[in-house]
Amino acid sequence: MNKPTTDRYAVMGNPIAHSKSPQIHQQFAKQTGQDISYEKILVEPESFSSEITNFLSANGKGLNITVPLKEKAFELATTLTERAKRAGAVNTLILNDKNSITGDNTDGIGLVRDLTKNHQTELCNKDILILGAGGAVRGILEPFIQQNPSRLVIANRTLQRAQNLAADFSDIAAIDVYEFNQLEGQQFDIIINGTSASLSGELPPLPDNLLKENGTTYDMMYGKDDTPFMQWSRDNKAAKVIDGLGMLVEQAAESFYCWRKKRPDTQQVINTIRNSL
Ligand code: ATR
Repeated sequence: MNKPTTDRYAVMGNPIAHSKSPQIHQQFAKQTGQDISYEKILVEPESFSSEITNFLSANGKGLNITVPLKEKAFELATTLTERAKRAGAVNTLILNDKNSITGDNTDGIGLVRDLTKNHQTELCNKDILILGAGGAVRGILEPFIQQNPSRLVIANRTLQRAQNLAADFSDIAAIDVYEFNQLEGQQFDIIINGTSASLSGELPPLPDNLLKENGTTYDMMYGKDDTPFMQWSRDNKAAKVIDGLGMLVEQAAESFYCWRKKRPDTQQVINTIRNSL
């Protein structure tokens, strides 16, 4: 049992059994000497609001929110950070009281930190291609744009979705949009896969020679084995092929910082989780 004074944290989603967030945050807490608990809670979308209220009244101080509740969390938050407003989704709630629930989104900064800090891949002045135009891509765009890439392109199966996304960010960036078959003849320093194609073992139809020499690729998914996109990257001689495990741990670290104002050593945690896959 938790002591009544222990600050409680949790991840809410549906499904939730697979979540690695408790493992990650428990390691962060141990490293930084924080007396907290962190659990996973399966939540039906209809009872999300009351689950938050119950958690708050039982010493709940913060929540991570995952699929399919990120947009609902965006609506329920009483205050939103700028990056959450842009993302249109919330993955972190800071619970002050019932009338003061801050919604944040740490996914984009998590991806940027994994690339720049853990993999020494700067985004500034690079030609970057992002595959996909769903919620996952919307969630990461603002921190990406802030890194000042020289060119930012989004390619998506459904062109209209990419056009809508580019329009929503047109005040801070000029994003070019294409269907996959229109990418022929173009080349990029970095290609990010933000589609959910890997989940079904699929690969967007990409032309050869899309990646520049010494290029980097990043799949926002991760698993024990290479995704089809990672395999494509190796076939296309990518200098660095990265999966989304580092992003998962870095977004968690940013949430932990929002709650506890401590920055854990993420590399150690990435290694532990990698070994447990
Ligand atoms: P998420 O929250 O994971 O972003 P989403 O909003 O449903 O989920 O978006 C999924 C993204 O993956 C979309 O860009 C989707 O393309 P469409 O907009 O054309 O649907 C893309 N996607 C999913 N399966 C794909 C596949 N097999 N090939 C290419 N793109 C795929």
